[in-house]
Amino acid sequence: SAGGPGIIAAYRDRVPVPEGAEVITLGEGGTPLLPAPHLSDRVGAEVFLKVEGSNPTGSFKDRGMTVAITHAKAAGMAAVICASTGNTSASASAYAARAGMTSAVLIPRGKIAQGKLAQAVAYGAKVLQIEGNFDDCLELAQKTAAEYPIGLVNSVNPVRLIGQKTAAWEICDALGRAPDVHCLPVGNAGNITAYWRGYSEYLHDGLVAAAPRMFGFQAAGAAPLVLGAPVANPETVATAIRVGSPASWKGAVTARDESGGLFDKLTDEEILSAYRLLSSREGVFVEPSSATSVAGLLKVAGDGRLPAGSTVVCTVTGHGLKDPDTALLGLAEVEPVPVDASAVAAALELA
Ligand code: F0G
Repeated sequence: SAGGPGIIAAYRDRVPVPEGAEVITLGEGGTPLLPAPHLSDRVGAEVFLKVEGSNPTGSFKDRGMTVAITHAKAAGMAAVICASTGNTSASASAYAARAGMTSAVLIPRGKIAQGKLAQAVAYGAKVLQIEGNFDDCLELAQKTAAEYPIGLVNSVNPVRLIGQKTAAWEICDALGRAPDVHCLPVGNAGNITAYWRGYSEYLHDGLVAAAPRMFGFQAAGAAPLVLGAPVANPETVATAIRVGSPASWKGAVTARDESGGLFDKLTDEEILSAYRLLSSREGVFVEPSSATSVAGLLKVAGDGRLPAGSTVVCTVTGHGLKDPDTALLGLAEVEPVPVDASAVAAALELA
């Protein structure tokens, strides 16, 4: 973040918290809206990246978590629980640590990126690796929170989505208008729901004259919204969006239908190709799931579904350092170089 006050202070009148609550913040929000010149050329539009990896724990989840943990703390809860493909668990455990609360995270065993696991461990969460997928973890977390004294901080907790609306407001505030098209990766579908509510609220209040069309993109192996039915065994390299039965299904469909938007799916190859393009051409290192928004943009531009000259925002949802293993995939063993300038020059093919 840009050292701002956090999203609750920045949007005090739009993000209500309980009277007298201690605000639990790590300075989230205020993330860059970065022009993407290479992508703009490629698709014939004015493309911006909303770089959510710049949040305190490296993903957009912090916007919702500051609100969820502030509410949980004000309600006197000592512990919170969440299911996660990795980023929610990193965020929940950080904000819980800040609040002096205990956190428990349920994650699908072997299916979350190493950086995210490292974060949950570092922030002191009780990490339970479940023999199941994210959808199983979410059901378990909901059951546990319903029966025991522990607060659920997944996006089924409605205050999470209130915080996540702030990204849409920041974009409108920065552009002085809403974009024509907004592209998002979609997993559990909370974020597309929140963005649409945010844009709709600004439209309703007369702060923008129009709202964007919402384009939601899923991985081909985990594309329930595109297929129109839950996926029993979701699979994709984009582990953050490896979700077969999105909790905010209805919210995502509303976002698409009210905005005149669309859903589509991308293969792992298309996602990884956009992932490499973002880091090597735009200098923006994101995790694979985040590149799904850009892979989707390239696809719709390629088949004529993007009006020329549109203003487009792609949210890139999480930092590339979250998933070092994918970044290093296929990296060959390299020969060590002796302490010798001519050897360096030879290795660089300068001579
Ligand atoms: N991008 C990243 C990096 C994510 O971590 C997620 C979701 C999404 C996109 C999709 O957002 O679920 O609101 O549609 N991660 C959740 C988690 C599932 O547990 O961290 P969504």
